[in-house]
Amino acid sequence: MVDYSRFISKVASNIKASEIRELLAIIRGRKDVISFAGGIPDPALFPRKELAKIAGVVIEKYGDNALQYSETKGIIEVRETLSDFLARKREIHADAEDIIITSGSQSALDIVSRTLIDPGDIVITESPSYLAALGAFKMNGAKLIGVKIDENGMRTELLEEKLKQLGDDVKKVKFIYVIPVGQNPAGTTMNKERKKHLLEIASKYDLLILEDDPYSYIIYEEGAETASLKSLDKEGRVIYMSTVSKILAPGLRIGWIVAEKELIRRFEIVKQYVDLHSPTLNQFIVAEAIKTGLIDDVVQKAMPYYKAKRNTMLEAIKENFPDYVWYSKPIGGLFVFAYVYKNGFDAGGLLEKAVKQYKVAYVPGGSFHPEGDGVNSMRLNFSYPTHEQIREGIARLAKLIRES
Ligand SMILES: Cc1ncc(COP(=O)(O)O)c(C=O)c1O
Repeated sequence: MVDYSRFISKVASNIKASEIRELLAIIRGRKDVISFAGGIPDPALFPRKELAKIAGVVIEKYGDNALQYSETKGIIEVRETLSDFLARKREIHADAEDIIITSGSQSALDIVSRTLIDPGDIVITESPSYLAALGAFKMNGAKLIGVKIDENGMRTELLEEKLKQLGDDVKKVKFIYVIPVGQNPAGTTMNKERKKHLLEIASKYDLLILEDDPYSYIIYEEGAETASLKSLDKEGRVIYMSTVSKILAPGLRIGWIVAEKELIRRFEIVKQYVDLHSPTLNQFIVAEAIKTGLIDDVVQKAMPYYKAKRNTMLEAIKENFPDYVWYSKPIGGLFVFAYVYKNGFDAGGLLEKAVKQYKVAYVPGGSFHPEGDGVNSMRLNFSYPTHEQIREGIARLAKLIRES
């Protein structure tokens, strides 16, 4: 047999498999284990019939064009539809030429990273932050610096301190990556003052901001502060990205980036060599789903549906968890994040015991922390389990926390 190891690149050798995916593979099919480890939408919200109809209409209407190769940047009619959608939903006023369609936001993260990061550059992220984004930045050679968050998002006073400490190395900082609404994994949302401060800091130190915004379209509290950073950006510093994964269906793999034309052109050239273009048929389906109001319908249904699940989880936590556990109270997104403030609590070390003995799973929070702290934390997903599973699973988890 061939020893393949000498053929594997340094980059591929250095990346670790995603802890979440490995874990999900182990517990998949184990009906006795209640899992808070996923991060996926509840398929009960997938508009199956409507999408089947739209797919038929699109093939009928656009004929071979719906099945053909298409423009790298994305089909122009689709980008125009997205331009209206973003103005209506996020007060982002971008014309079709300021938008590039990507194969989900994960591909957007990769394209932005390939375009902006040289090995040894610095990317600043929230701590904790989205694991697959951290992976995309690291895979492109970035050194990560984490800035702690609290219930109001990234602590921008700490961000400024870190930038000052960098001295001349501040020139190596390419961008600050934030998920302002319903943060994954922390379930927190950035307030107005922090957003303003973040934009001021970016301007003062001449930095870009990468705003990842998959969750703001579905919000659980009326009047919550959810304005996009992009809508507040006067200098063209914010690169905005989002996706239909949480508002329609993640299997479609359609996302988008909004930025100044000069940057979009750079992303387009990189994308040519990444995947030529995003799926043509799915782009047409997404545009039709926007125009017919299907996405609005899904969002309308998802708001009370997920809100009820969030409430069930928060109530169960309040009833069951000891008071040395801090947990977030999300107004959007799919996660509650918890820190167990008890000496030596190691969520990663306890996971096997949790699954085998207590029959409950979560994602240990350590790997979401770019600087290696947070071993006492865990991410709990509420979108996928049923209400009954949430109540029972939280009771099991509380037992594990108390007994460990
Ligand atoms: C913050 C964040 N960014 C990006 C993604 C990836 O989304 P997509 O399915 O569009 O690749 C997710 C998915 O969970 C996410 O939580």
